[in-house]
Amino acid sequence: MMTNRIFVCPICQSPMELDKQTWFCDGSLNPKSVKHPFDVAKQGYVNLLPVQNKKSKSPGDSQASILARQRFLQAGFYQPLQIKLYQLIQKHLKKSHQQPDMSRIRWLDIGCGEGYYSQKIATIPSISQLIAIDISKPAVSELAKSSKRQHLLWHQSQVINQQTHQSALNQGIVPLVASASKLPLQDNCLSGVSSIFSPILPQEIDRVLSKKGIVCIAKPDVGHLASMRSALFDEVREHQSDKFLQQLYDVGLTLLEEAFVETDLILNQQQLEDLLTMTPYSYRAKRENREALLRQADTTGFKTTAKFVVYVLEKDRKTNY
Ligand SMILES: C[S@@+](CC[C@H](N)C(=O)[O-])C[C@H]1O[C@@H](n2cnc3c(N)ncnc32)[C@H](O)[C@@H]1O
Ligand SMILES: [Zn+2]
Repeated sequence: MMTNRIFVCPICQSPMELDKQTWFCDGSLNPKSVKHPFDVAKQGYVNLLPVQNKKSKSPGDSQASILARQRFLQAGFYQPLQIKLYQLIQKHLKKSHQQPDMSRIRWLDIGCGEGYYSQKIATIPSISQLIAIDISKPAVSELAKSSKRQHLLWHQSQVINQQTHQSALNQGIVPLVASASKLPLQDNCLSGVSSIFSPILPQEIDRVLSKKGIVCIAKPDVGHLASMRSALFDEVREHQSDKFLQQLYDVGLTLLEEAFVETDLILNQQQLEDLLTMTPYSYRAKRENREALLRQADTTGFKTTAKFVVYVLEKDRKTNY
C-alpha cells in the first residue's frame, strides 16, 4: 500500500492511502481512529462522494446527456478548443515552473464530464498526474473506462519510485466522483486547476492550489451557437462570460491571459440533437421550435458557430515578483 498525502477522506478529512482495490483513510483525524474504506470500481474510478454529501440520488449530468456529449465531442467539433486549452496550459505551466520537478506537477480538472478535455490535458508532458472529478458517476465511469483502454489510469502506471522501488500509484489519470464544493484534496497540493464549462468555486480552488498555481477556465462566449439559440427562443439572453472573474480576483488570483476560440459547425440531424441534449437549451425550448430546428438540419445541414473564451489566472503572482 502506498501513501499519497494529497487525497483526503471526504468523511473525516484524514489522509488517504491508495491501493489498487480499496483506498483507506488513516483515521488520524477522527476521534475513534476509524479507517474509512473507499472501493476502487472495476472501471478504475473511486467514489469519494459520501451519501450524506449528495443533494440528490443521481447528481450531475445524466447518462443520456453524457453519451450525447461523448458522440458530439468525439466527432471533433470542439477540437479547436481542446487544442487551445492544451497549448495555453502547457505554456503557462512552463512559465510558472521554471525548474519543474516532473514528479510533482499535478493538475485537477473540475466537472470533467466523460473526459474529452481532461485526457488531452493529461498528455501535456510536464503533468505527471491528472485528477479528474465530477459529481456525476456515469460521467466519471465513462472517463475511467476510456482512460483504462488507453492505459492512462493511475493504477496502470509502470513508474517505479526510485527510493522504495515500488510501483507508484500517483501518476496518470485519477478519476474521482467528488464535488467541486468540497474537494477531497489537501491544501496547496496542485500546480493547476481547470473548469471547462463547469462549476467554479473560487475559495475551494484557491485552497487546493499551490503558490503560483495556474487556473484555466473555459466558458461559452457572447454569440455562442447564436443561430441555434435564435431558432429555439423568441428572446435570446447572452452569456455573461466574465461575471465570475471578480470572485476569482477577490481570492487573490491574477488574470494572465484571455483567449478566444471560434469554430464553424455544419451539423446533421443526429449531431444537432446531440448538441441540444448536451446543452441546457434543449429543455428550456418549446417543443415545436426544437422540432422545426431538427427538420432544418435534416434537409440542408444546420450551420452555426461555436464561440468560447478561455481565461488563464495565477495565484499569488503579485507577492512573488
Ligand atoms: C457542461 S458539463 C462539462 C463537462 C466537461 N468539462 C466538458 O466540457 O466536456 C458540466 C459538468 O459539471 C458536472 N458538475 C456539476 N456540478 C458539479 C459539482 N458540484 N461538482 C463537480 N462536478 C459538477 C456535471 O456533472 C457535468 O459533467
Ligand atoms: Zn476517514
